[in-house]
Amino acid sequence: MAGMNIRLAFAIISSTCWSAFQHGYNTGVLNAPQGIISEWLQRDALTGTNLTLPADEDQRVTTVMSIAVSIYCVGGMIGGVLTGVIADRFGRKGGLLLNNILVFIAAACEGSSKVANSAELLILGRLLIGVNSGLNAGLAPLYLSEISPVSIRGSIGTVYQLVITITILLSQVLGLESVLGTPEGWPYLLAATAIPAVIQCVTLPLCPESPKYLLLNKGQELHAQRALNWLRGDVAVHGEMDEMHQEAEKNKVSKKVTLRELFGNRQLRQPLVIAIVVMLAQQLSGINAVIFFSTAIFQKVQLGTAQSQYATLGMGAMNVLMTGISLLLVEVAGRKTLLLTGFAGMFSCTVGLVIANAYTNVTWVSYLCIAIVILFVVSFAVGPGSIPWFLVTELFNQASRPSASSVAVTVNWTANFIVGLSFLPLSLALGAKVFIIFAVLQIIIILFIFFKVPETKNKTVEEITAMFRQHM
Ligand code: GLC
Repeated sequence: MAGMNIRLAFAIISSTCWSAFQHGYNTGVLNAPQGIISEWLQRDALTGTNLTLPADEDQRVTTVMSIAVSIYCVGGMIGGVLTGVIADRFGRKGGLLLNNILVFIAAACEGSSKVANSAELLILGRLLIGVNSGLNAGLAPLYLSEISPVSIRGSIGTVYQLVITITILLSQVLGLESVLGTPEGWPYLLAATAIPAVIQCVTLPLCPESPKYLLLNKGQELHAQRALNWLRGDVAVHGEMDEMHQEAEKNKVSKKVTLRELFGNRQLRQPLVIAIVVMLAQQLSGINAVIFFSTAIFQKVQLGTAQSQYATLGMGAMNVLMTGISLLLVEVAGRKTLLLTGFAGMFSCTVGLVIANAYTNVTWVSYLCIAIVILFVVSFAVGPGSIPWFLVTELFNQASRPSASSVAVTVNWTANFIVGLSFLPLSLALGAKVFIIFAVLQIIIILFIFFKVPETKNKTVEEITAMFRQHM
């Protein structure tokens, strides 16, 4: 890959692998051991709790369990809101490093909840690791987009999502009963989230801060040039320094854009709407309905429990594989084509699933349903999974990028929270017809992308922001 070198790869791994790890791992980690943790709640933890809970015992356990699962997204929203301020105040690398403090506290809370016999500690830990993940989802793509050469910015941006898919799978494997999904093992499973934070604290300090942040936010010319020399493994970085200087000139006119200015500025309205819609699109496509509830969906189509768990792992593996392929495709086919192809694939699968669900008493249709669910995830991985994270950073210049990322990341986690909460009640009420809602949303998304989203492949930030000025 032209433009890649060992140091840049090291910076990508140190900044992104260990932060996206938190996002993916904690998304999937409660999936497999839910039953075991529920037993602990029922037997021990909820006997002397101060939480106000329903009188019925089953309901108490379900309520606490769903709070523990979904408060993670509430944390994500808070992290999203904080992204802009932290990124400007402490820098991208600085923010990522500091963010690990939250991981250590969260891991301590979650890991000790069983010994302390406290459901409150488990919930607090989930909230804190959620804030950490929300911040990571803003800070890591910012750092990546600012250290990447233009020609491979999309591929590098995809690494964030690739690591999410790998770590969702890892958490599901580690959560199996034969590994850590046991009454003794689950506190370790949750506390293991501290390991990547330790690795990041050791490796990320060896990498430079984002050169754009150093020059455009801090005015540190020499430091910016050194950072760029380090990342490119080359002393000849005049071209990129010139580009940054041009952006710096423009930035003098429009200093840092606050959240309020972001919403008030007509020039930024179009990219802001696009950023918000692609984030909504990623979540409202229904992906997490499948990621969280796949085992239950497979069981509904007559697969046994063990088989359903393996089908879920197979689905996770396909998610990883296709995201890896999309990393290579994104600089060839472009962002827009992959988004459209992905959502069109998801739409076809959703319609197929609704139709096939009427015939699940026929054996081969059950297997067809499983294939459709897996294809649905593969379609998501073609583009809708990875592209929104970095597209947002491509649409804005240095002055507005952190605020825009803040808004986009918050929208993403809010939509994630809403789908997570409403999917089960809706599917109880509507059965497989719940997927019709997703199909309608997917059509609207496809039309929006087709008419409104520009191609950003191989374009500098200057060129992209100029496109929006022309279209005003
Ligand atoms: C994206 C979504 C996340 C989802 C994951 C599945 O990262 O933001 O919510 O769980 O993809 O691969």
